[in-house]
Amino acid sequence: MEKRPVVLVVMDGVGISDKELGNAVKMAYKPHLDKLWNECPHTELRAHGLAVGLPTDGDMGNSEVGHNAIGCGQIYSQGAKLVNENIDSKELFNSATWKELVEGAKDHTMHFIGLLSDGNVHSHIKHLEALIKQAKEEGVKKVRVHVLLDGRDVPETSALQYVDEIENFMNDLNDDSFDARIASGGGRMQITMDRYEANWPMVEEGWNIHVHGKGRQFASATEAIETYRNESGVVDQDLPGFVIAKDGKPVGTIEDGDSVILFNFRGDRAQEICKAFDEGEEFDKFDRGNKPDVKFAGMLQYDADLNIPKKYLTEPPKIRYTLTEQLVKEGINEYAISETQKFGHVTYFWNGNRSEKFDDNLETYVEIQSDVIPFEQRPWMKSAEITDQLIQAIESGEYQFLRTNYPNGDMVGHTGNLEATIIGVEAVDLALGRVMKAVDKVNGILLITADHGNADEMYDKPKADEKVHKAKTSHTLNRVPFIVYGADVVCKQDDNLGLSNIAATVCELLDVKPNEHWNESIIEKK
Ligand code: 3PG
Ligand code: CO
Repeated sequence: MEKRPVVLVVMDGVGISDKELGNAVKMAYKPHLDKLWNECPHTELRAHGLAVGLPTDGDMGNSEVGHNAIGCGQIYSQGAKLVNENIDSKELFNSATWKELVEGAKDHTMHFIGLLSDGNVHSHIKHLEALIKQAKEEGVKKVRVHVLLDGRDVPETSALQYVDEIENFMNDLNDDSFDARIASGGGRMQITMDRYEANWPMVEEGWNIHVHGKGRQFASATEAIETYRNESGVVDQDLPGFVIAKDGKPVGTIEDGDSVILFNFRGDRAQEICKAFDEGEEFDKFDRGNKPDVKFAGMLQYDADLNIPKKYLTEPPKIRYTLTEQLVKEGINEYAISETQKFGHVTYFWNGNRSEKFDDNLETYVEIQSDVIPFEQRPWMKSAEITDQLIQAIESGEYQFLRTNYPNGDMVGHTGNLEATIIGVEAVDLALGRVMKAVDKVNGILLITADHGNADEMYDKPKADEKVHKAKTSHTLNRVPFIVYGADVVCKQDDNLGLSNIAATVCELLDVKPNEHWNESIIEKK
């Protein structure tokens, strides 16, 4: 019997919630998705907490852990959990890298750069506190913290809460022999934390602010945040960069001999700044000016194939037996496509945080360039362009397994703009309708799922004293859909099914043996 091609669509950030209020998924006009859900075999999958290797079921899902789980068919302890364990066991502080950086900083300054929140997607403020405390205990005298303000994995305007927490924490430690303070910062969508090379100028701006102290000066982070909010009303993730200065002099530029730790554990938005610190003359993304000679380490190694960064404090999960590895072994031709913002999700995250291909001949990766604009202004993003190419690839008959990620539900969902997010979900639905037709043409099978929720809850619960709903910009804890179109199967209805059950399902539909290490398939053939 001829093998039927399988196409997998990840609708990023499209979760399931019964709530009507602020649910952009429910509010969207989405005839294709509704029809698929009503007429095709389907189930709901866990996409958060323990089901994707996070420390607790209170942790919302995210694209890294979601795509890791889909792409490897297993649940690995993820960065958030591994760093917790590494700090609790003190192994982190016994590592050669930590010792080297601390030793070097004793007569210089120890810098920490990272996302300041308890979102637990890229970082956790408690990790930063543990590092600062230990640095003091081991004799470091001067610490400078460069804070990236969140509002994307945590409430939209919560930056001051975290700034207060870290400042109180440092003030309690400060004494005659120890001096720790915030030196610079800015919104995470403005400086430093670009991903997949979508916008290097963001990283350049962060570099100049953190390293050279070049930027608008303020006496404190609180003053910077309040001033920017009053001037332009921007939310935390979009706050412009700032430098803390005294008498016109920045309090914490990065100098020769200093040590620098990037305390984020997630890799996509960490890699570019790592390269700026780690690379020598070959670095050509922007002019780094007088690059200081520092010891640099990341909280994790973000890409083990590419060795980014060279030094790190926690071993990343060693994700083995990925779906790609299995398919390549079977000689299956794969095709992966998305736009820049999620391109690495269907390649790097998908393949267990590896950027390199297993087999150049069997894997085709296509990136559609994302716009560099606030996505609420173009909520359809590149859904039409991705679909054009995906349809071509499906109809070419060259590939047996094709996958894509439509970022709209997530990227627009993160703006907190309900109206735009509804349009984003509608754009995905329009694309799905086109993909369905192409799949029909080649007698293929279409699987539709999501990596985590976001668009399904666009309002935060109002506090007792609040009259209006506040925008919710972060992901949700909700389950995600899993739909099978074009195959006569039954989907299991089991509370425990999660994203890690997808890999075996894909293999079953491709008539390929699933890897023995994977979690079971979601479907039963009739
Ligand atoms: C981001 O990096 O944009 C958010 O922190 C998480 O979003 P993602 O997990 O959907 O990429
Ligand atoms: Co997201």
